[in-house]
Amino acid sequence: MSFRIQPTPPARPNRCQLFGPGSNTRLFEKMAASEADVINLDLEDSVAPDDKETARRNVIEAINDIDWGRKHLSVRINGLDTPWWYRDVVDILEHAGERLDQIMIPKVGCAADVYAVDALVTAVERAAGREKPISLEVIIESAAGIAHVEEIAAASPRLQAMSLGAADFAASMGMQTTGIGGTQENYYMLREGERYWCDPWHWVQAAIVAACRTHGVLPVDGPFGDFSDDEGYIAQAKRSATLGMVGKWAIHPRQIALANQVFTPSEEAVREAREILAAMEEAKRTGAGATVYKGRLVDIASIRQAEVIVRQAELIAG
Ligand code: COA
Ligand code: MG
Repeated sequence: MSFRIQPTPPARPNRCQLFGPGSNTRLFEKMAASEADVINLDLEDSVAPDDKETARRNVIEAINDIDWGRKHLSVRINGLDTPWWYRDVVDILEHAGERLDQIMIPKVGCAADVYAVDALVTAVERAAGREKPISLEVIIESAAGIAHVEEIAAASPRLQAMSLGAADFAASMGMQTTGIGGTQENYYMLREGERYWCDPWHWVQAAIVAACRTHGVLPVDGPFGDFSDDEGYIAQAKRSATLGMVGKWAIHPRQIALANQVFTPSEEAVREAREILAAMEEAKRTGAGATVYKGRLVDIASIRQAEVIVRQAELIAG
C-alpha cells in the first residue's frame, strides 16, 4: 500500500443508470417514476442530428418541470468532436435549474477533454450565478480513452463516475464484435474439443476499476443492448460487480430491477460479512491476527473485504 490513502468515492447508490433519448419526451415521466438511482437524459447518440436542438430544449424543460425525486439527474452531452457539445453545456447550465446534478461526457480520450468541459462548466456556473456545483461523469469508449484511463480518472475534482461504453469501444478498437456488450461468439478457448467462452470486456473493466479506485471515482458498467436477454444481462452485471463496479446502465426499463438486484449485496452476503467482522473482533480480543470462519482462513484483509459489502449495503439502505 502506498502511503497515500485511497480516496473514497461519492457516497451515493449508483446501481442503475437509466437512459432515455432527449427527443422522446413520452419517456421522461416514466423515467422519473422508475427505481433507477441515476437518470441520464441523452443528447448524444440516441438523438438524430436534426433533433439535437429540440432535444436540448426538451431536456431543459424536463429538468425544470418534472419531479425527479431523490434521483441523481444527469445529462449526456454530445462528444467534443461534434459542433453541439459547447451549446449543450451553455444552454443547459444557463436555462436548467439547480435540480440538475451531473453532466456526462461521452467518448473522453484524454484528461484535457475533461479539463475543457470543466473550464466551460465553471465559467457558465459563475456567469449564471449557479450555487450547486455540477458534477461530471465520463464514458470510456475508445482506444484513446482506455490508453489514458488513469489521467482521465484524475482529471477533475468534479468527476464522480466513469462508465464503459462497450459498443463504441469495440468499434474504436477494431474488435470484430456485434451487439452491445455480452458474450462474443468468436472469443473462446478450446480444450479437448470443447469451447469455453471468455469475457472480452474483462481487461478493460479491470483497468477502469483500478483507475477509478485510485482516484475516488465510481466505476460503472455501461449498456447491454439485447434487452430481451435477462440472463445475459444478469451474467454481465455479476461479472462487473465481482470486478468492483458499482452499477450498470439500463437502456430499457426491464433492466432496472436486474441491475438493482445484482448491485445490492444480498442479505446472505451481508450476514456473512458481518459474521466475518465479528469473528475477527473476537480474534483481535484474544490477540490473534487471523482465525477460522466456516473452515477457511480469515485475517485482517478479510475485514477490508467484508467492510466493502457492509458499507455498500448500508449506503443503499440509507
Ligand atoms: N425509460 C423509461 N421507460 C421506457 C424506456 C426508457 N428508456 N424505454 C421504454 N420505456 C417504456 C415504454 O414507453 C413502454 O411504456 P408503456 O408500457 O407505458 O407503453 C414500456 O417501457 C415498454 O417499452 P417497449 O415497447 O418494450 O420499448 P420501446 O419500443 O418503446 O422502446 C427503445 C425501446 C430501446 C427504443 C427504448 O427503450 C429506448 O429509447 N431506450 C433508451 C435508448 C437510449 O437512451 N440509448 C442511449 C444510451 S445507450
Ligand atoms: Mg457511445
